[in-house]
Amino acid sequence: MYVVYADMFTTPQQETLKTMLLPERHLKRFPMIGLARCVMYTKTSLNRKMYNKRPIAENIFYVGVNDRQKNLFENYLPLPEGVAYNSYLIVDEKVALVDSVDVSFADIYFAKIDAILKGRDVDYLIVNHIEPDHAGCIGLLKQKYPNIRIVGNAKTFDMLNGYFGINTQLHEVKEGDTLSLGKRSLTFYMAPMVHWVEVMVAYENRDKILFSADAFGTFGVNDGDYLDSCINTDKYWDEMRRYYACIVGKFGVPTQNALKKLSALDIKTICSTHGPVWQKELSKVVGLYDKWSRYEAEEEGVVIAYGSMYGHTQQLTEAVAEGVVAGGVKNVVVYNVSKKDTSFILSDIFRYKALIVGSPTYMGGIYPLIEKLLSAVEHRGIKNRLYSCFGSFSWAGTAVKQLTSFAQAMNWELIGSPVENKQAVFAEKYQAAFELGEAMAEKLKSLR
Ligand code: FEO
Repeated sequence: MYVVYADMFTTPQQETLKTMLLPERHLKRFPMIGLARCVMYTKTSLNRKMYNKRPIAENIFYVGVNDRQKNLFENYLPLPEGVAYNSYLIVDEKVALVDSVDVSFADIYFAKIDAILKGRDVDYLIVNHIEPDHAGCIGLLKQKYPNIRIVGNAKTFDMLNGYFGINTQLHEVKEGDTLSLGKRSLTFYMAPMVHWVEVMVAYENRDKILFSADAFGTFGVNDGDYLDSCINTDKYWDEMRRYYACIVGKFGVPTQNALKKLSALDIKTICSTHGPVWQKELSKVVGLYDKWSRYEAEEEGVVIAYGSMYGHTQQLTEAVAEGVVAGGVKNVVVYNVSKKDTSFILSDIFRYKALIVGSPTYMGGIYPLIEKLLSAVEHRGIKNRLYSCFGSFSWAGTAVKQLTSFAQAMNWELIGSPVENKQAVFAEKYQAAFELGEAMAEKLKSLR
């Protein structure tokens, strides 16, 4: 073993990484150490049988990687199920890579490509999305394949220059342009703001495969296989919604625009940049994206999110939840914001039709973690929810007033009478909170 390096995104570090591309060296992975993952070099040859090289279609291969190490996506979103960075290799008269992976996984990524190409060059890198979880290996790809041409649009190339200082060997595409690879060809469609401004998708015309960038992606690694029909997909649906809510959720209108555009295509396979390749569940994932981007709830139900310092707002929460169930609605999800990351609560707010928020008055305002949640909701511009609120205070109540005005800010219907309690909770306020829950249930039932 010879070298230890810390992987990073900037060019000098990529220069350091250059040696890792020498073919006789085997890269052995070591665990994350802080933000940097260390890699040691050995002279052991690669065992190239270790990768799943079964093609998605004739000569189209999955060359993505599983990240089971990262704790926080974008350094703030928990990853209990990990995340996959997907890249695809099309081998034709020309060879094209579609997107790449986080640079931390360059060793595995290049080994997978090498195992398929066996020394052949890559002609094109299609950059559907230049966020670093997909574009991290561009600098290394340029070094390994000096003749590679980067395919993107004008916005991609502005960022390519800004992030990597790369401004040559570019192949610019515009809406509807087609790139021939030989037997296969790719047609490009712009999908701005799903998730960044430069995002585009590529449609493979022979087997009708959509390379969709972040769209239809999900948190969660690909356990054992990348193809949805080969694995149990149960774990993905909640994580897919959480991914959508947190990453794409603000961009409902652009997502709708992209879906309308793509509805004209005959799509048999969706190859997203995160999570499984969708074939069996294709219509389900498209339907979910359509629903979420219209801010339409998936089902009847109530999210009750509360903060509580000493248990009084929590007592009201119990009463509200009892009222909802007694009123005839079974789907009640109660979140203590101090114990659950905002992203999971946000995901369920996309899922269910109703939201009830409880907060004590804190420094003349709303409890900080409730503020964080409401800010996340407001940023996503979630529409058409039924809403109510409650809270408690010790000497001067302001939280419930502010929570009530949130309904107006979001243009949501306020249901029942907000409940505000001073100090300990006695029967009268408990009953009022129960009735608030009942009122929400009645409203939901009226929509059945
Ligand atoms: Fe998976 Fe927007 O990057």
